[in-house]
Amino acid sequence: MMSFRDRIDNNKIPKHVAIIMDGNGRWAERHGKIRVVGHEHGVESVRSVVEGAGEIGVQHLTLYAFSTENWDRPREEVEALMGLLVQAIEAETDSLMENNVRLDAIGDLDPMPAHVLENLNKCKDRLKNNTGLNLILALSYSGQWDILNATKKIAQDVASQKIDIETIDHDLFSSYLSTSEVPEPELLIRTSGEYRISNFLLWQIAYSELYFTQKLWPDFRKEDLFEAIVDYQNRERRFGKTREQLTS
Ligand code: IPE
Ligand code: IPE
Ligand code: MG
Repeated sequence: MMSFRDRIDNNKIPKHVAIIMDGNGRWAERHGKIRVVGHEHGVESVRSVVEGAGEIGVQHLTLYAFSTENWDRPREEVEALMGLLVQAIEAETDSLMENNVRLDAIGDLDPMPAHVLENLNKCKDRLKNNTGLNLILALSYSGQWDILNATKKIAQDVASQKIDIETIDHDLFSSYLSTSEVPEPELLIRTSGEYRISNFLLWQIAYSELYFTQKLWPDFRKEDLFEAIVDYQNRERRFGKTREQLTS
């Protein structure tokens, strides 16, 4: 059997892949461990997927690491996740550098602990001149927050007459979102068998292909990413048109 890697059409690599990394808690439970152990193992999956995405030439990879709603988890779990984030960034920066990866973060970062932000910014700064994969961590992120935040900024710019209401269209609105620098994702992956978006990119996934897998995040590896990409490449993206229009 050919590997999924060999079945990928290199001319149809999605520019932007987004992933809802879910199932760490259930993974831990199945292994008789506490939830945090699942999160720890999830870091290995991130490493593998970042490597894989870079190998095949994905330009942007957005990983949903912590949602606005996740702040409501037990305090110990939130603290463990923040600690793990710092630990992972510190441990991975060298290899991200070697792999020519850039780093960015999107989300409502104000409530994030100062030392986490400091760490993140230090890493971002070290990787800023890299030209390979752009890794975007969605932290304290929600799609509705993103849309509301954009709306407020647009309202301010209308009020101060920087822009005219009539000029508000898709492209202008997109330019106020936290993802203004990246194209909309062609492919959205969610692990762990849940069929929902959980307030991830909402505006941006208007025409994304959705891929759901039963695999729990800590078991997900680059080969699973390649499988999702092969699946994506075999879909017909019609964008509201008829099939005949696509070939002409
Ligand atoms: C995803 O795994 C990680 C975060 C949301 C931070 P979960 O912690 O949601 O794992 P499950 O869904 O409880 O298995
Ligand atoms: C979504 O997972 C958020 C992240 C993966 C960071 P959740 O586990 O928080 O989502 P729900 O609760 O199943 O919707
Ligand atoms: Mg979950």
